[in-house]
Amino acid sequence: MIKNSNSFIMLCLVMLLPFFQVAAQDLTGDEVKSLEKYSAIKGAHGIVVPGLKLSEEQMKWWQDAKFGMFIHWGLYAIEGKGEWAMFNNKIPAEEYAKLAETFNPQHFDANQWAKVAKEAGMQYMVLTARHHDGFALWDSPSSYGDFTSYTTAAHRDFVKEYTEACRDVGLGVGLYYSPMDWRFPGYFKPLELAENAALMKKQGYGQVEELMKNYGEIDILWYDGGWLAHSGSDADAAWFWEPDKLNTMVRSYQPDVVVSPRSGWEGDFQCNEGRKPITGPIIPTPWEKCLNLNQTSWGYNPKQNLMSLKDIIVMLVNTVDRGGNMLLNVGPDAQGVIPATHIERLKEVGDWLQQYGESIYGTRPGPFEPIDNVYGTVQKGNQIFVHLLEVPETLQLPPLNKKVVACKQMPFGTALNFAQNENGITVFLNNLNPDPIVGTLVLEVE
Ligand code: GLC
Repeated sequence: MIKNSNSFIMLCLVMLLPFFQVAAQDLTGDEVKSLEKYSAIKGAHGIVVPGLKLSEEQMKWWQDAKFGMFIHWGLYAIEGKGEWAMFNNKIPAEEYAKLAETFNPQHFDANQWAKVAKEAGMQYMVLTARHHDGFALWDSPSSYGDFTSYTTAAHRDFVKEYTEACRDVGLGVGLYYSPMDWRFPGYFKPLELAENAALMKKQGYGQVEELMKNYGEIDILWYDGGWLAHSGSDADAAWFWEPDKLNTMVRSYQPDVVVSPRSGWEGDFQCNEGRKPITGPIIPTPWEKCLNLNQTSWGYNPKQNLMSLKDIIVMLVNTVDRGGNMLLNVGPDAQGVIPATHIERLKEVGDWLQQYGESIYGTRPGPFEPIDNVYGTVQKGNQIFVHLLEVPETLQLPPLNKKVVACKQMPFGTALNFAQNENGITVFLNNLNPDPIVGTLVLEVE
């Protein structure tokens, strides 16, 4: 079943994962980088803090949810060059700050965002409450220099509107927060400009506390950018951010919040970021693929390069078949509007999930290891779902210690012939209606 050497390395890494929880702290920077390269997993090396991680029971809703919406939205939407515009274009902080005086989104409607996410079949949302540019989308007394949507042109607390809208329609409420902030020279030179760096840290602790304290129950805290001096990994900067203290404070307000690994603490799940395809065996730890619907940039960009419906569904099933969740990003424009093309594509995803959602939500990977580009399986109760990435004449599955009593094609339940013996299960696919997206079968077991 091991198809190439990369899969083999991946398998070894995955088998070693439980040990990384402790041993990863002892890895050198280069070793950590090579781990990230092979596993594409960020945060596998974060510091371990006894008692901080959620239990399996507390993680259940998140592992059942499978699919969420990421939203990158902030001042950078005005320029439409992505969320790294300030840094990439070397815009001085004072000049960048002027954007706040024109940021007054007339069409921002959090209920509309929530509706789009619901219709796409998503179960939770994660909004960039504050990205690396330092602009906070809420009433944030801890903000350095009052750089918030509440104290500038918009005079609105978007986080409040957003959290309420998510809850109204039963979506999990997620907030993204970047501890680091490009406005602070101390971020780039934490040793030489220690006092300035300390101000950034104070802001970070203050703002995280506001978000955890003032907006009701928060389901996900999605840190990103617990770096320092623009180099190394999040965990390399743990000496500075002290993510153990930070997240102990978080737990005191939100005992059940699911936390990402990007503050330098290992977190409750691992991240796999970007559009690289998901291959290899099942990953036996909670993890999430995050990627961009418009592949040009996370933040609003008029240049559209949307993932196709098929690419989205293939990524989703490859993720879910290996035990992960998928967080798909949209970048609303400066008026707060999610581009119509995004909405249309997401609606198509929602239509697919209407028909095939049974094979996604609430499932767990297995019982068979996926075979890259061929199939992957998940299970729920007495059902095994098979996602076919190609359609051979007969499908050969490994042996199973339970009796298969029926095999059907989803969504309409066309029965398929099959045979089972000690060598495995053979499904005859000549009756199968080829599906242009991903053919999905359901095996019922005793
Ligand atoms: C990277 C980027 C950031 C983006 C994030 C999403 O860390 O710095 O702009 O928000 O990925 O995962």
